[in-house]
Amino acid sequence: METIESIKGRRSIRKYKDAVVSRELMEEIIEVTRYAPSWTNTQTARWTLVEDLGIIKKFATDAVKGFSYNVDTLKNAKGVAVLSFVRGKSGRAEKYNVETSENSERWEYFDTGIACQTFCLAAYAKGVGTCIFGVIDEGIIAKEINPPEGETVAALIVYGFADEEPKVPRRKEVGDILRWV
Ligand SMILES: Cc1cc2nc3c(=O)[nH]c(=O)nc-3n(C[C@H](O)[C@H](O)[C@H](O)COP(=O)(O)O)c2cc1C
Repeated sequence: METIESIKGRRSIRKYKDAVVSRELMEEIIEVTRYAPSWTNTQTARWTLVEDLGIIKKFATDAVKGFSYNVDTLKNAKGVAVLSFVRGKSGRAEKYNVETSENSERWEYFDTGIACQTFCLAAYAKGVGTCIFGVIDEGIIAKEINPPEGETVAALIVYGFADEEPKVPRRKEVGDILRWV
């Protein structure tokens, strides 16, 4: 799929068909996701793919702060990716003898965001819809999936075969977001 078509054509999907996405296809998507750039190639993003419907139900009831969009989306979800990252690596430059910048922790989320979008685009290219959730309770999610020590949960991404074709939410014009100096 052409890159620009993929960037413009991907939508957040909130209605999914009943079919489960195979593990093989999800592994292909993660295989592509590995190519996301990261701070000094630290590659700190981690993926926990949840197929257990009991846990997905628990996410709906307890882990999205009752936000109705997310509760409803999870009701027909058959797969949810928990995106986490390994703390304390991105944003550091000691090995180059350079002082770590005071906002070093932000780069951890920056890298994770790039990984997140790479995952969504790779999924779209392979026919799988996604919806990123930022309205989440990280602690409850972590309790359910039990990530290794030193990882922080950053986002949920619901995935599956789209059962809707949402319109493109209005984008700002180039002149609204671009400045030349
Ligand atoms: C960091 C982030 C958090 C988001 N959180 C939610 C969310 O909690 N629930 C939801 O339904 N959509 C969420 N979205 C999806 C946005 O609403 C969506 O990307 C935006 O409206 C543009 O629509 P599009 O993705 O179809 O282009 C989130 C997106 C991002 C990037």
